[in-house]
Amino acid sequence: MNYKIAVIRGDGIGPEVAGAAIRVLEAVGKLENITYTFEEAPVGGNAYDRFGTPLPQSSVDTCLACDTVLLGAVGGPKWDTLPGDVRPEKGLLGIRKALGLYANLRPALLYPELADASPLKPALVENGIDFVVVRELTGGLYYGARGGDEKGTFDTMSYSKAEIERVVRIGFDLAQSRRKKLCSIDKANVLDCSRLWRKTVAEISAEYPEVEVTNMLVDNAAMQLVKNPAQFDVIVTENMFGDILSDEAAQITGSIGMLPSASMGEGKRGLFEPIHGSAPDIAGKNLANPLGTILSAAMLLRLSLGEEKAACRIEKAVKAVLAQGLRTADIAGGEGFIGTEQMTDAVIENL
Ligand code: IPM
Ligand code: MG
Repeated sequence: MNYKIAVIRGDGIGPEVAGAAIRVLEAVGKLENITYTFEEAPVGGNAYDRFGTPLPQSSVDTCLACDTVLLGAVGGPKWDTLPGDVRPEKGLLGIRKALGLYANLRPALLYPELADASPLKPALVENGIDFVVVRELTGGLYYGARGGDEKGTFDTMSYSKAEIERVVRIGFDLAQSRRKKLCSIDKANVLDCSRLWRKTVAEISAEYPEVEVTNMLVDNAAMQLVKNPAQFDVIVTENMFGDILSDEAAQITGSIGMLPSASMGEGKRGLFEPIHGSAPDIAGKNLANPLGTILSAAMLLRLSLGEEKAACRIEKAVKAVLAQGLRTADIAGGEGFIGTEQMTDAVIENL
């Protein structure tokens, strides 16, 4: 099968990690008889520099014409003083919205080999950490009305019932296919949006009698994630809460550099990116951990292309390189480490 994949390399370490994932996709493709046509879609600060906008329409069109999208990372200090509507991040938010990707799946998995890299005490991680954050991605504070001036400003959180329903269903479906535990996280003691969210979760739970549902306030959830992470299977939450909690989830598994993500909508087309940012301080130095993006490529193969065998091969290869003791700087704990390219080579050798 030949697939068309749009590639948003982005800024900072984005091009390095996206390039690493492409090399791994090509290598696993040779083994599994899969070929790809990669189409470049500039988004972010580099797009602003070249086209005066972080999201050229031509890039949106390219993504829409492809089977799916791979993304490195966008943003950097160079563009920090730009007005909000042309910042690199606006390009990312724009492409998520344009592709209708309302559900962001962020698996937080502790590899036993990396237990030492977790900042949590061994006793807390010995039961394993293996959960998925399902973050609503195209609503809430990120997209609500905003305005004001120097004297005061406002951002708005608003959710339609339909927006809540569709992402909550994804959470239930995923829980049903895993350990059948869904934790919905909100701030229902304060926010009307959260009260509608909680009510909707209760209604939909009737369709999933096997799934055990709990509701947790977001402040408590932030605490529970470090107190007893093994309690979580699937978390479903609104956009901003999901943004914050998924960084916390990433760190307790050892390094934000390890974690992949998938953003999905109604069809099979998705956007696959590591959850880390563009790390401008280490860009171009062969220091970035490519594994988050390589694992995102595995999710791309599984969720967009239905190439389960190829996805598993990548995931097994990542486990193998960790078992061999290979580490990039972020997970090496100051000991000897290898670069982005060498880590990518090692994954390819283990496919
Ligand atoms: C993420 C990032 C983005 C977000 C930023 C870069 C806009 O933090 O994907 O988690 O907040 O969604
Ligand atoms: Mg974030």
